[in-house]
Amino acid sequence: MAVSLKGRDFLTLKDYSKEEIEYLLDLAADLKAKKKQGVLTKDALPGKNIALIFEKTSTRTRCSFEVAGHDLGMEVTYLDPAGSQIGKKESIADTARVLSRMFDGIEYRGYGQNIVEELAKYSDVPVWNGLTNEYHPTQMLADLLTIREQFGSLDNIKLTYMGDARYNMGNSLMIACAKMGMHFTACAPRAYFPNKKLIEQCQEYAAESGATLTFEEDVKKGTEGANVIYTDIWVSMGEPDEVWQERIDALRPYCVTMDVMKNAAENAIFLHCLPSYHDRNTTIGKAVGEKFGLMELEVTNEVFESSYSKVFDEAENRMHTIKAMMAATLGAFEK
Ligand code: CP
Ligand code: NVA
Repeated sequence: MAVSLKGRDFLTLKDYSKEEIEYLLDLAADLKAKKKQGVLTKDALPGKNIALIFEKTSTRTRCSFEVAGHDLGMEVTYLDPAGSQIGKKESIADTARVLSRMFDGIEYRGYGQNIVEELAKYSDVPVWNGLTNEYHPTQMLADLLTIREQFGSLDNIKLTYMGDARYNMGNSLMIACAKMGMHFTACAPRAYFPNKKLIEQCQEYAAESGATLTFEEDVKKGTEGANVIYTDIWVSMGEPDEVWQERIDALRPYCVTMDVMKNAAENAIFLHCLPSYHDRNTTIGKAVGEKFGLMELEVTNEVFESSYSKVFDEAENRMHTIKAMMAATLGAFEK
């Protein structure tokens, strides 16, 4: 039976089957090829309007939704972190009911997953999660597409996530790997492993897909033979600056170095959702680096700039995969 995702929200990959995720990846690959060939898709969703709500800042996600929206022939309205009434003067439920009278789809980036779920509950149009504290599902589509491009398929891929595995990226990668039958390792101090309830849920997905989930504190064991080494910043958006000390103390041994990459599989790649503190060329990277006497944080500049690193292919794929996700949930290519 053909997959149809028309009218669906995109809040977490937990809501999507392996077959549906594969469908989105195939569509993204097709749309990417079309874009490279200069084939326009502006007749896909003409006359549609989408709203992008960002309560946290963004470069990749915002630009991906904007470019993808325009490529599909849509008009895009951006609501910045300060530029709307949401949460301050108007509830999420009221916002959802107002916006879904005007727009055909709504993207939300913000804090708790409960907020985007509330938005979806009261919205009559698809709601897309552009990152919450708990999940970052559009990033997962880009990561899976990048891995598939690099290795030809997702079969038997071993992915090790190093760092704070309790937050949006660690959680989402564990879900993605469990759904797709991949081998996921969280390599982190025990206190930074994903929560027990989510692990149990992912173990159920893994039982169905053939995935394995491993939780390992030892860096050598956790990264040995991995095809993908993945990390993220150690302090996420919305967290207070005071946590830097604790994170550096706990996560410093989990920095992705050349030794880590050499311990991984021969064909290993390095991925990072970005932005990254791999040098001191950012305000925060400089301030934190100077305060703690570090030149780099979660990944060395040597790895970031090496041929292992596919982070810019990954960033590009944000746009192609978000385009596929919007096209599918808005029924663009359905008769
Ligand atoms: N990876 C990612 O979501 O990047 P932005 O915060 O720039 O959107
Ligand atoms: N964990 C990071 C991901 C950024 C894409 C954050 O939430 O800030």
